[in-house]
Amino acid sequence: MAYAAGVDVGSTQTKAVIVDEEGTIVGRSLIDTGANVIQAAEESFLTALREHGIDEEEVEYVVGTGYGRYRVTFGNTQVTEISCHGRGAVHLFPNTRTVVDMGGQDTKAISVSADGEIVDFCMNDKCAAGTGRFLGAAAAALDIPIDDLGPVSLRSTKPIKISTTCTVFAESEVLAWIGKGKKIEDILWGVHKSIASRSAGLMRRVGINDEITFTGGVSRNLGMVKALEDRIEKPLNISDDCHYMGALGAALFALDNVLSGRTPIHTTTGATT
Ligand SMILES: Nc1ncnc2c1ncn2[C@@H]1O[C@H](COP(=O)(O)OP(=O)(O)OP(=O)(O)O)[C@@H](O)[C@H]1O
Ligand SMILES: [Mg+2]
Repeated sequence: MAYAAGVDVGSTQTKAVIVDEEGTIVGRSLIDTGANVIQAAEESFLTALREHGIDEEEVEYVVGTGYGRYRVTFGNTQVTEISCHGRGAVHLFPNTRTVVDMGGQDTKAISVSADGEIVDFCMNDKCAAGTGRFLGAAAAALDIPIDDLGPVSLRSTKPIKISTTCTVFAESEVLAWIGKGKKIEDILWGVHKSIASRSAGLMRRVGINDEITFTGGVSRNLGMVKALEDRIEKPLNISDDCHYMGALGAALFALDNVLSGRTPIHTTTGATT
């Protein structure tokens, strides 16, 4: 059996996806990127293989993506994350025309054609205000786990309006609201609404066309899904695989090469599995 793989080395988390010749996901893994980017790329790839009992030699082509894509030393080529999120989203939800990717450091709005080609894209500039990092700062200030952000925020009855647009000040603003006796859920829902508003602005710049697919780690946060849906007044496609979308797109680009026979077998990691 021949397999293809995509490794998305994000600023915050590294994702690997293995697909079979049909383009079906047969393995995936997710780890924190940490300081050693080369090691994160290798570890996520090997974990995905190991957990699904696939031999490294069976993987014929590997595409790296994400900010650390050039650190996928065992990869055959690199493709930008914009292209990979677009490709993955159209594969999972074929009618996707707009993709919103919220990761740890960047939020990107992407407009795609029916065949998954990128028509236009737009991203936040050097500022993490509308991203997972902003949510992470709020979670840290409130001392609650990231996974609880969405569920807690959805309990809000009287959302407060967050005024800061800077991640550096998010923590102090959150603490100031706590000091004023506001409920955690109302503060958090305010944080989600503020991020949704910034993200909707990015999406408007590329055009918000049906269907819309939400990708990246923040798509796991159901509070963010609801806040964004409320803001753009349209539903979003989400799935458990949305966090892996960049890696999935990369794996599909890798599969193109396997199927077209342009197959330089990838340089193995050198690990003994
Ligand atoms: N279970 C979860 N619930 C809520 N948020 C989550 C969850 N898991 C991850 N996240 C959020 O997703 C973010 C990481 O997403 P992702 O892996 O897409 O980022 P990345 O690709 O490393 O970053 P970037 O694309 O900006 O370089 C984390 O910062 C965290 O805020
Ligand atoms: Mg990313």
